[in-house]
Amino acid sequence: MSKEGSHRDIRKQIEDLSQDLRRHEYLYYVLNAPEISDEEFDRRMRELETLEKKNPELIALDSPTQRVGGQPTKEFASVRHPVPMLSLANVYSEEEFLEFDRRVKEGLGGSHYRYICELKYDGIAVSLLYQNSRFTQGATRGDGQTGDDITANLKTIRSLPLKINISPPASDFYMRGEVYMDKAAFESLNDRRALEGNPLFANPRNATGGTLKNLDPRIAASRPLKLVSYGLWFPGIETQGWSQSKSLTWLEEAGFPVSREWQTANEAQEAIQFWRDRGTHRAELPYEIDGTVIKVDDFTQQERLGYTAKSPRWATAFKFKAQRVRTKLVGITLQVGRTGAVTPVAELEPVSLAGSHIRRATLHNEDEIQRLDLRLGDTIYLEKGGDVIPKIIAVDESVRPSDSKPFIMPDFCPACGGSLLRSAGEVIRRCVNLSCPAQIQGNLAHFASRGAMDIESLGWKLIEQLVAEGLVKDPGDLYTLSIDQVATLERKGEKSAHKLLEALGKSRNQPLERLIFALGIRHVGAGAARVLARHFKSLDTLQAATIEELQTIHDIGSVMAQSIHQYFQAPANLEIIEKLRRAGVRFEAENKPDNELPLAGKSFVLTGTLDNFTREQAADSIRALGGNVTGSVSSKTDYVVAGPGAGSKLDRARSLGITVLDEPAFKKLIEI
Ligand code: IVH
Repeated sequence: MSKEGSHRDIRKQIEDLSQDLRRHEYLYYVLNAPEISDEEFDRRMRELETLEKKNPELIALDSPTQRVGGQPTKEFASVRHPVPMLSLANVYSEEEFLEFDRRVKEGLGGSHYRYICELKYDGIAVSLLYQNSRFTQGATRGDGQTGDDITANLKTIRSLPLKINISPPASDFYMRGEVYMDKAAFESLNDRRALEGNPLFANPRNATGGTLKNLDPRIAASRPLKLVSYGLWFPGIETQGWSQSKSLTWLEEAGFPVSREWQTANEAQEAIQFWRDRGTHRAELPYEIDGTVIKVDDFTQQERLGYTAKSPRWATAFKFKAQRVRTKLVGITLQVGRTGAVTPVAELEPVSLAGSHIRRATLHNEDEIQRLDLRLGDTIYLEKGGDVIPKIIAVDESVRPSDSKPFIMPDFCPACGGSLLRSAGEVIRRCVNLSCPAQIQGNLAHFASRGAMDIESLGWKLIEQLVAEGLVKDPGDLYTLSIDQVATLERKGEKSAHKLLEALGKSRNQPLERLIFALGIRHVGAGAARVLARHFKSLDTLQAATIEELQTIHDIGSVMAQSIHQYFQAPANLEIIEKLRRAGVRFEAENKPDNELPLAGKSFVLTGTLDNFTREQAADSIRALGGNVTGSVSSKTDYVVAGPGAGSKLDRARSLGITVLDEPAFKKLIEI
């Protein structure tokens, strides 16, 4: 075959393979109905990567290998929207909605119209440009006229079609929609951030916004962003017989993720009923909505109604009332985390809100206090939307005591008196004193926690005592404790001292991944620790790794690589490691190739409680046999292990036809 001919064959092979992978991404991420296993998908992806590596000139922009590409940029380019991205006017009650309906009726001069009712997703609005069926550019709303070019970040969202396979209505078209994060995914993201000592996101919307605005697309790739589509636009769409319902149907056919939760309404009353129903069931949705959006369906009628300066006259956001109460701010306390981060917390006169009793609310950082102009003794409004954490949203200044003074963040650590430092670009202050008792206690608590070394009898109270008595300064010191030392602590007898030493003894043998996680290296969560343990197989090889070497590992980004390297440079940390070594803590991984283990490639979800295992123990057993454990049930899950108290995960497993194991069946499986 001529050289030319074989090159053409390779091009065809690459195109076919890309097409095939895009289809399977769609089946998996949009329809939630995969046809091939993860392994098979990965195998095909690797095949494409290899072909592309050998023929880099054939790499297409819409190749599935290019979702996470490129290096961080310095800033986002600006993108001008072809039609402004407007916001919606809000109504909050049936009366206000009927007012809106009256204006629509009047505007349309008596002709018949119908509404389309949709959910109002609480995320970040984006606009995606498709040219010749391919995704070429994506932008944020910005000021409505121009937004930021966040194409690289958007490409990492696997449900976003890189190419559409049905004929487009115009060579260039725009899809508008919302990027958001599921509530559960947001919670686990924050849990992980707490363990890694990073500041928490206030809600899924902020987490989504922060992620989309990050200049490094690898961050977006690592976060569980989702996309939902609610708009189609191309030049001339207004006059070609299109409607909103036709757009949604077309978008769905074209492979875009479209929610099924929409319906048309011939009467205002039906739209009101939709708003009522969705309001009642909003907490059951896996994502957050803050209302419904009611639009006139027909595009010709939309044009007739037109726009005000800010928003269309043919649509309104029909918002849910946030649950809100008033109470008093009685104090602001400061919490010092294990990384020294100082978080202000509002102490409130207890109130009940959306079914829970609330006495505290996080204020995140001092900028938030300033933004609210919060003062001690203020009467504040507290809100809770969906099932999010309660948030202080405003101050009632009309009843503010006349002598109140603004809250000033101290320059000194409330725990040790050391200086607090706020680095440029950061919103939090950190205590820089490494021997700050709050940090020492935080580090010890993390070391002993269930996901780390799991030292059961080492609770917060005992840690406090050990640190106060000067018996322990770092995790290495724990292993030198004697029965006598512990037994003489207040209210500790010999029996509990024995128990602690026994637990410490057991912890010496924890798997390497737990030790790595327990060290509390910034940015290294349990997942990354597992990757590191598998790769390096011993703490000493990890310690010797260069930044470059660390960065070549899949899932380890540059920030983490630097943080790991830095950790092993600090003399205080090396001292801890030597103490742990002397104490006989296991530094080596068990040596078995993962793919030969009996549960290799199998994905598990645990739900409910088991009699003979804690969640951690069950997960450890699965991982030790090569399986992996995830938090949510999808069609990729192989087994759901369910004990009493299992909830929605079990229902979901059943509806997807996934094998459900009870405790005896699970025990049998792991005894293989
Ligand atoms: S339509 C001109 N539909 O709400 C109207 N918006 O203030 C364009 N949103 O910025 C928006 N769900 O981020 C529309 N089903 C939905 C929506 C929705 C959420 C957001 C969107 C927009 C804001 C309107």
